[in-house]
Amino acid sequence: IGVIAMSLLCSLVAVQLIVPVSAAGDEAALLAFKAQLSHGDSLASWNTSASFCSWEGVTCHRRPARVVALRLNGTGIAGALSPAIGNLTFLRMLDLSFNSLHGDIPASLGRLRRLRSLHLYDNSFSGTLPANLSSCVSMIDMRLDNNTIGGYIPTELGEKLTYLARITLRNNTFTGTIPSSLANLSHLQSLDLSTNQLVGSIPPALGSIQSMRYFNLARNNISGMLPPSLYNWSSLEFLYVGFNMLYGSIPDNIGNKFPKMKALSLSSNNFIGVLPSSLSNMSDLTILDLWKNKFRGYVPPTLGRHGALQQLTLVDNKLEADDNKGWEFITSLANCSQLERQ
Ligand SMILES: *[C@@H]1O[C@H](CO)[C@@H](O)[C@H](O)[C@H]1NC(C)=O
Ligand SMILES: *[C@@H]1O[C@H](CO)[C@@H](O)[C@H](O)[C@H]1NC(C)=O
Ligand SMILES: *[C@@H]1O[C@H](CO)[C@@H](O)[C@H](O)[C@H]1NC(C)=O
Ligand SMILES: *[C@@H]1O[C@H](CO)[C@@H](O)[C@H](O)[C@H]1NC(C)=O
Ligand SMILES: *[C@@H]1O[C@H](CO)[C@@H](O)[C@H](O)[C@H]1NC(C)=O
Ligand SMILES: *[C@@H]1O[C@H](CO)[C@@H](O)[C@H](O)[C@H]1NC(C)=O
Ligand SMILES: *[C@@H]1O[C@H](CO)[C@@H](O)[C@H](O)[C@H]1NC(C)=O
Ligand SMILES: *[C@@H]1O[C@H](CO)[C@@H](O)[C@H](O)[C@H]1NC(C)=O
Ligand SMILES: *[C@@H]1O[C@H](CO)[C@@H](O)[C@H](O)[C@H]1NC(C)=O
Ligand SMILES: *[C@@H]1O[C@H](CO)[C@@H](O)[C@H](O)[C@H]1NC(C)=O
Ligand SMILES: *[C@@H]1O[C@H](CO)[C@@H](O)[C@H](O)[C@H]1NC(C)=O
Repeated sequence: IGVIAMSLLCSLVAVQLIVPVSAAGDEAALLAFKAQLSHGDSLASWNTSASFCSWEGVTCHRRPARVVALRLNGTGIAGALSPAIGNLTFLRMLDLSFNSLHGDIPASLGRLRRLRSLHLYDNSFSGTLPANLSSCVSMIDMRLDNNTIGGYIPTELGEKLTYLARITLRNNTFTGTIPSSLANLSHLQSLDLSTNQLVGSIPPALGSIQSMRYFNLARNNISGMLPPSLYNWSSLEFLYVGFNMLYGSIPDNIGNKFPKMKALSLSSNNFIGVLPSSLSNMSDLTILDLWKNKFRGYVPPTLGRHGALQQLTLVDNKLEADDNKGWEFITSLANCSQLERQ
């Protein structure tokens, strides 16, 4: 009995000690975050006259009172992001998008093991992406578009962020190659690495990600061929690889490999060969952009038969249309009532 009473007493003491300390820690961390901002007029409600759970943009879990979401998107805050943010260890959602935050992304974010969504897009963050983010093992949605973050994409992200469904690094200054470790992200649906300075080829291992729906590598310096393994992505709806240095031909059965394709953009590369007639099997295809490549031969005569096409860009290739057969596809476009331009 003595032992049980003792351990009960201990756990009571532990609860009493841990809960208030952590909640007070959240308040201190939020105030440290605010103190680092050079412009935080929108955070006037962030003062100790009321519980931090009532502060603008803060959402708490009740008992213990801990911050689970911080949503300050588009509130005009400016300045650096305090490393103290890593003390909000119950945080699941951090949305600081559409602001004027600058400086490094703190490595202490790696302490947020419950974090599912990290939205830092449309700011002025610079520096590199800390490998510590790979410790955010609950991450599902990571969006860092429109900043000036550079350096390599950390290999560790692919090894540890098992639940990641979306990662967008669009319009930053990332260099180096696409890590093949990303192939481990078996729930990945959306990968946007466009408008960076990435080099090297597309890792063939990525073909094992069966959930891939949106893949965008446009405007980098990616070379080599599209690996044949990518044609395993039977759920793929958007493929944007324009403005790179890719080459090679397109397989005859592409239309049957990607039955859900909505947008296919290969513009400004060095693709060669004929346009497979299976392209006309993609019944949802709305954008087909092949501008500035070395495709030759006829345009598939039934290309527009499903009527979904809205944008078709074929110029700057070696396509032939010197006789009636070459122009047959125009007839099929009659079904494309929403076609905007050619
Ligand atoms: C954050 O947590 C660390 C370690 O627990 C502590 O030393 C530091 O003072 C905390 N920072 C703030 C601003 O609360
Ligand atoms: C503190 O926050 C409350 C709202 O929570 C606000 O009414 C009050 O004006 C704030 N005080 C200061 C000094 O900003
Ligand atoms: C912030 O994001 C939410 C959804 O995540 C959106 O509803 C809201 O309009 C956004 N606010 C601003 C000011 O952009
Ligand atoms: C980053 O991760 C390493 C290794 O896990 C750890 O030792 C270090 O303390 C972390 N840095 C921060 C700032 O949390
Ligand atoms: C990035 O900036 C561009 C250009 O201003 C804008 O069109 C795009 O919507 C932005 N991306 C995000 C995710 O906000
Ligand atoms: C890239 O992001 C910057 C902000 O960092 C923005 O001003 C610019 O319009 C974006 N460019 C594109 C092409 O989205
Ligand atoms: C994860 O990726 C690394 C690097 O490509 C690889 O060595 C490792 O086997 C992968 N792990 C799993 C579980 O797929
Ligand atoms: C791609 O490489 C070429 C030549 O190597 C270079 O001139 C160009 O700036 C690079 N583009 C990007 C986006 O890195
Ligand atoms: C994907 O495609 C490659 C080559 O086309 C093939 O060897 C592999 O078995 C396919 N399946 C997976 C899950 O990668
Ligand atoms: C289009 O798909 C059908 C059914 O899967 C197939 O029989 C036909 O050969 C395909 N057409 C082309 C041109 O590949
Ligand atoms: C237009 O669509 C109809 C119905 O899907 C189809 O029967 C017809 O062959 C199509 N016309 C052309 C020119 O492809």
